[in-house]
Amino acid sequence: MNNLTKTENSVKWQSPSNIAIVKYWGKKGIQIPINPSISFSLSNTITETEIIYSPKQSGKNISIDFSFEGINNKSFEEKILRYLTQIKSKFSIFDKYHLQIKSKNTFPHSAGIASSASSMSSLILCLLSIEHKEKQLSKDAFFKKASFFSRLASGSACRSVYPGFTLWGKTDAFQSSSDECAISLSEIHPVFNDLQDSILIVSSAQKKISSSAGHQLMELHPYKEARIKQANQHTTQLIQALKLGDFESFIRICETEALSLHAMMMTSNPSYILMEANSLKIIEKIRQFRNDSGFDLCFTLDAGPNIHLLYPKSTKEEIIKFIKAELLVYCESDNWIADEMGNGPKELDKQFYE
Ligand code: PMV
Repeated sequence: MNNLTKTENSVKWQSPSNIAIVKYWGKKGIQIPINPSISFSLSNTITETEIIYSPKQSGKNISIDFSFEGINNKSFEEKILRYLTQIKSKFSIFDKYHLQIKSKNTFPHSAGIASSASSMSSLILCLLSIEHKEKQLSKDAFFKKASFFSRLASGSACRSVYPGFTLWGKTDAFQSSSDECAISLSEIHPVFNDLQDSILIVSSAQKKISSSAGHQLMELHPYKEARIKQANQHTTQLIQALKLGDFESFIRICETEALSLHAMMMTSNPSYILMEANSLKIIEKIRQFRNDSGFDLCFTLDAGPNIHLLYPKSTKEEIIKFIKAELLVYCESDNWIADEMGNGPKELDKQFYE
């Protein structure tokens, strides 16, 4: 428990990052995706957020302090404040409390790994825990709300509030799917239940383009309609592959999606090349190793040069040997993060919802 004063109370949540197999790229209206996406939540790339709340003196303005890893961060604070102002009318806590928000990542922020999904979802989970402290809300309703508000903060964050595989965006392939929040995909074959994600850090430099600017480039993209069609087809096919344990289809969809995302950026106006020479070297090595060994493994990338190498736990030992022998030479300072599929967010200290 914290050293709180008599008038203070606190909530604390951990929430994970997620890696998309079918990529969300492009949005419309109020953070509505132009295509459905499927990801799985990770286990080790996590943000932990604590909010200490105390009665507010006066005034209608939202009152927060924000610190990241122990240091006050004004630029993050302003970003959060802008978001909270947008959702203010849906929460009563902003009128009642001053919020001291403390956030930290369990992974090095210098690794160039996007953290908006984990940071924003952990923030929302804290806010909802305070908001609903005295009210009855079922666990399902709580996480649905968490996904809804996380989406408004950062699209892909809405997929981080559930364990394992999640689907965000309306698709005919899944009746309860929604553009407004993610849902959990529960019919998953055991071969996909312990997926490993070895994140190979090719460069830890800051992103060349923010994801909001990237999404915007899809608005006038000449391949927009074809991309929407492809993502919808991949979503339908992936849901089926996950159900059946069809790793071959998983590999095909996963790699095509990653390369399509990068192709969209390469052919945008202005155009961006976000892979580096070493990203391509690693991709070639992975494909070569797959052909030679017959192991199920594949790569994906977010909007940057780092490679996520995905494979089942059963081949972990051999694949880590392969990483060390053949891939680390292409990584910045031999840097990589060992991650795997995770159990979703977790409330710390108080056990409000777990
Ligand atoms: O949630 P955003 O706006 O940071 O967009 C994420 C976009 C990708 O990571 C490239 C793809 C995805 O679906 O996560």
